[in-house]
Amino acid sequence: MSNTSWNHTTTSDEVAETLSSHITGKTILVTGISPDGLGLDFCRAIASHSPSLLILAARNPSKISASQSHLSSLFPSLSLKPLVVDLSSQKSVRSAAAEINNSVDKIDVLVNNAAIHAHSLSRSEDGIEMSFATNHLGHFLFTNLLLKGAMRSGGRVVNVTSNSFRRGGVVWEDPNFLNTPFGDGWEAYSQSKTSNILFSTALAEKFGSRGVYSYSLHPGLINTAMAKKMDMDDFANRFNVNLQWRSFAQGTATHVVAAFDPAIEPQNGGFLTDCQIKPIVGDEAAWATGKENWERLWKLSEEFVGEEFS
Ligand SMILES: NC(=O)c1ccc[n+]([C@@H]2O[C@H](COP(=O)([O-])OP(=O)(O)OC[C@H]3O[C@@H](n4cnc5c(N)ncnc54)[C@H](OP(=O)(O)O)[C@@H]3O)[C@@H](O)[C@H]2O)c1
Repeated sequence: MSNTSWNHTTTSDEVAETLSSHITGKTILVTGISPDGLGLDFCRAIASHSPSLLILAARNPSKISASQSHLSSLFPSLSLKPLVVDLSSQKSVRSAAAEINNSVDKIDVLVNNAAIHAHSLSRSEDGIEMSFATNHLGHFLFTNLLLKGAMRSGGRVVNVTSNSFRRGGVVWEDPNFLNTPFGDGWEAYSQSKTSNILFSTALAEKFGSRGVYSYSLHPGLINTAMAKKMDMDDFANRFNVNLQWRSFAQGTATHVVAAFDPAIEPQNGGFLTDCQIKPIVGDEAAWATGKENWERLWKLSEEFVGEEFS
């Protein structure tokens, strides 16, 4: 259990201050780095605690470069490494993983933070629905390739999900939306976000004995680039959600807990929100729990990426 006084108002700066000794000396890779996003704010919050290296991964080189300049202006002695990766492309993911495995001895913490919310049906170059390809399968492949290389001796894998997992699970009969109506993309987004949770559980169950810890988290509602692209009033009405906005620093506090807090190790595979492990219980979203679901998703993901991982 993490610090019981931490909650939805706690900031990443406060958590990082407390966990400073667990950040110092670590090599951390974060996906989904861009100036208006949570990935960069997470890096900002931990940067003053002397990580050994921050690897900034994104699909857009100019956004990496802007993010790198921002961090360097705040923390001139910080070691940074850019990594261009398009998570929707399995070729790009394989190439990025090889680049890291060939150049970095050890990744201590991998934060799978990147995501899109595809509002209309589109497919990746591999022919896969874009939210599933980017948010889950790209991270599934990237993580498993790193676990054979720079993370072979273990480490932490943080999967950033969303409370949208509560709206639906994996569409087992048609995960690629070949025949299922796509609508405005919420079903596909929920499928990908449920997958983030099941992926963390699977990593803990399959690889916990060799030092792999994995957590999924919901950051709260933050006015990032992704949120700005959505009609939030429509979202609030449709899903009966009370729009309780958080600052960026409040939004990334749970990232810092999931990435560094040793106190949550006994809950390996768990889901966090508001800086705390919050078990998904009863029938609130049964599709996001249970061995039958994570094993089924693992096999499905292996089929989509054309490689088995054990
Ligand atoms: N903001 C919220 O209220 C909220 C709520 C719940 C969950 N979340 C989760 O928080 C995480 C961060 O999202 P955010 O709110 O910070 O949104 P964001 O600013 O849009 O960040 C998402 C990042 O993912 C990157 N990305 C998208 N497609 C990619 C691809 N194919 N390959 C590599 N990178 C790709 C984006 O790159 P580009 O800049 O190039 O598009 C961006 O850097 C996501 O997992 C999201 O689901 C956010």
